Amino acid sequence: MAVSGMHRVPERRVAHLAGRVAAKSALLHQLGALGVRLVAQELGISQVMAGPEQGRPVVQVPPGTPACDVSISHSKDLAVAVATTGGRVGVDLEAVRPRGPGFHDEVFTAVEQDWLMRCQHHHGREPDELWSLGWCLKEALVKQTGHGLRDSLQQVGFSGWEEHGPVPTVIPGLTDAPGAFSARITLNAMGPGGGPVAGLLALGGGYALAVLHMPEVRSA
Ligand SMILES: CC(C)(COP(=O)(O)OP(=O)(O)OC[C@H]1O[C@@H](n2cnc3c(N)ncnc32)[C@H](O)[C@@H]1OP(=O)(O)O)[C@@H](O)C(=O)NCCC(=O)NCCS
Repeated sequence: MAVSGMHRVPERRVAHLAGRVAAKSALLHQLGALGVRLVAQELGISQVMAGPEQGRPVVQVPPGTPACDVSISHSKDLAVAVATTGGRVGVDLEAVRPRGPGFHDEVFTAVEQDWLMRCQHHHGREPDELWSLGWCLKEALVKQTGHGLRDSLQQVGFSGWEEHGPVPTVIPGLTDAPGAFSARITLNAMGPGGGPVAGLLALGGGYALAVLHMPEVRSA
């Protein structure tokens, strides 16, 4: 496994490494489901070194293996990764925390705030949980589309979301916690690289998680 030495803070290095382990695990699982049996040493994970997508993980697979995309997030004690062999993925994990005054108006459009308030009312969650979930959704969009890193936060938009029931499998550290919430969602990502996106949201154990997958990659 290749680990870059880019992080000087030891905790950040551990988080980086944990993210790479999670990424390889997700990739092996995804490829295994397609009947492609590999071991972790056969996979490489580098990252985009410059340009608007700087930092984005890039997967190297053996010849003949389907191309893969992977996304990584880490927060506090957890690291998570999501992988696909079709399209692009984005994931964000955050510890739920209170947000300062002005956060909502700075980050979310009026339509998004309305959706989050309805979601809070419908599922009976705390406001901090929903604002953290909304933030995760935007960060996952940034990672999945590859755009928005230089835009104002309100320009990383979403609309047309629908919920399709809880996530059928356990997400360790999140949905196995008491009182956890999860939902499969579809929405429309706005802006360059946008389009129909499917994914999931989860709250539990003090964390918020958003995972997004666009099966078809659109040129910006
Ligand atoms: C890049 C960014 C999305 C990372 O999110 P974060 O919450 O700080 O950190 P996370 O732990 O969730 O994710 C870090 C991982 O994202 C990945 N990543 C970094 N840059 C990326 C990019 N341009 N595209 C996709 N993934 C990226 C890396 O794998 C990184 O882990 P690593 O450094 O250990 O390799 C974020 O820091 C950022 O710069 N956002 C720009 C501000 C913005 O427009 N936000 C909109 C949200 S409302």
